[in-house]
Amino acid sequence: MCGIVGVLGNHEAAPLLVEALKRLEYRGYDSAGIATVNGGKLDRRRAVGKLVNLSDLLVHQPLAGKSGIGHTRWATHGAATVTNAHPHKAGPVAVVHNGIIENFRALRAELAEAGYAQESQTDTETVALLAQRFMDEGLSPIHAARDTIARLEGAFALCFLFAGEDDLMIAARKGSPLAIGHGTGEMFVGSDAIALAPMTDRITYLEEGDWAVLTRKGAEIFDSLDRRANRAETRIQIEATRVEKAGYKHFMAKEIAEQPVVIADALKHYTTAEGTLRLPEGVDFTGVDRITMVACGTASYACHVAKYWFEQIAGLPAEIDVASEFRYREPPLSPASWALFVSQSGETADTLAALRYANGKVARVVSVVNVPTSSIARESDLALPILAGVEIGVASTKAFTCQLTVLALLALKAAHDRGRIDDVALAAHLDALRNLPGLMNHALSLSTPIAAIADDLAKAQDILFLGRGAMYPLALEGALKLKEISYIHAEGYASGELKHGPIALIDAAVPVIVMAPRDGLFDKTVSNMQEVMARHGKVLLISDAHGVAEAGAGAWKTLTLPDMPPVFAPILYAIPAQLLAYHTAIAKGTDVDQPRNLAKSVTVE
Ligand code: F6R
Repeated sequence: MCGIVGVLGNHEAAPLLVEALKRLEYRGYDSAGIATVNGGKLDRRRAVGKLVNLSDLLVHQPLAGKSGIGHTRWATHGAATVTNAHPHKAGPVAVVHNGIIENFRALRAELAEAGYAQESQTDTETVALLAQRFMDEGLSPIHAARDTIARLEGAFALCFLFAGEDDLMIAARKGSPLAIGHGTGEMFVGSDAIALAPMTDRITYLEEGDWAVLTRKGAEIFDSLDRRANRAETRIQIEATRVEKAGYKHFMAKEIAEQPVVIADALKHYTTAEGTLRLPEGVDFTGVDRITMVACGTASYACHVAKYWFEQIAGLPAEIDVASEFRYREPPLSPASWALFVSQSGETADTLAALRYANGKVARVVSVVNVPTSSIARESDLALPILAGVEIGVASTKAFTCQLTVLALLALKAAHDRGRIDDVALAAHLDALRNLPGLMNHALSLSTPIAAIADDLAKAQDILFLGRGAMYPLALEGALKLKEISYIHAEGYASGELKHGPIALIDAAVPVIVMAPRDGLFDKTVSNMQEVMARHGKVLLISDAHGVAEAGAGAWKTLTLPDMPPVFAPILYAIPAQLLAYHTAIAKGTDVDQPRNLAKSVTVE
């Protein structure tokens, strides 16, 4: 989603702003722009498409000035055009914004009546016009910004810059994250610390409802009631903000390859060498009657897999829902239950809103997040970091398998606390998990045969993924990954559902990817696979050596993964699903790391 940066610096701002915007590219965007104040004059440059277009424009029409704001826009209100691109400017005010101003129509009508007409279709220009109006009425820039912010409803992060003010920026946060960076005689604003990493590692996160007045001397922060607020300054580990491809062609390739290492790290963090769990105090399932898991997209499929684990291993009733439905469904929640929210970014608007709905209604609000400083982590009773490291590729890979790993550990803890498994069984399960990184390395070594299969998949118009039991959500994830980055239509189905409808789609042109380790459900899945082959469907069977030997005959292609206890097989089978999507996208020549229309962190509803 949109990225924001702001600089009150001692050097030319434009190159710093563009560099910071580059570091926010991973969030997804379709236009970009910057504004600076130079000798009191406010000016801006905006371009549609990738940042390189903005950089080209700046070569021909440079922007001088040491104070500036910048933005990458992921279109919400109005198409990706130069007029709709940020910064928006109205008289002496320029604004960049992430989020949605829900009452912008009413404000726009009010402003139009007062003679403040809008050029763009955006909700953001309304903010700039409102501030301009307050300034026209005699308010100072600071008071105009303050009164503007007070009129806004919805979720937003904002940064204001003013003509005639070389040493002033106003930043505000409500619902969308915003970080303030402290330099020496310089101050910065960014959607996240990653954007600011080349400039500073000293960061203050604004809290909900905060707004801040920044000058080169520092930041004065006010809460939603305009009281002075003290917010801690933290030092960010630069390691945690590293966004390099490290020799890989794409971030996604690097992140797929990193999985054995990050999963080993997560296991080391949450378990002991003696075969016991080391989860934070408070992770105690005694007396818990149910777990409700809520997330979006890939993270919701991780919850879907975990539902099988909580129910089968721990005997704990588990519900799952996508956050955008959960938040409006008004589900009754048991006071003895836990609500668990899974999110890579920790900023997904729907998941955050769902968490706020659950707060106070359940015994404990727990989150499984990748960004420990995120809103979801901060608003949970207990936050478990997944320790995947920065994930830049828009299509989630290592965060998914790390989410699964942490959820598996939680399910084991629940099983142990509820007396469903003893110490010996727990140690055996943990052993199986500890073998995962090695097995994942084996799965990664299949990249070349997978690339060859992907060359064929790239020609398909529709692809189906099938799985049973905990492999069913993995079929959903495999299909999501493929459509996200290759733009091929793909669907995941529970194998047993095939004959209830989707089988009508099968013909020789539709590849069907069957993910089936040799588990208790294998024979049933094979029957469904036979139904596909009987209708000339092209089956790719992904299984272990026994499975491929038993059922591979007649399949179009097979891929053999190492043996592992079937219960945790979804974590391993995620790798071929990711590699299939990756190589299919490469074969189609699509933008792997920044697929069209997608954003990394979805901070609007
Ligand atoms: C898909 C993908 C998305 C995210 C979803 C939730 O590859 O990345 O479906 O999983 O937008 O995002 P987080 O996990 O940040 O809440």
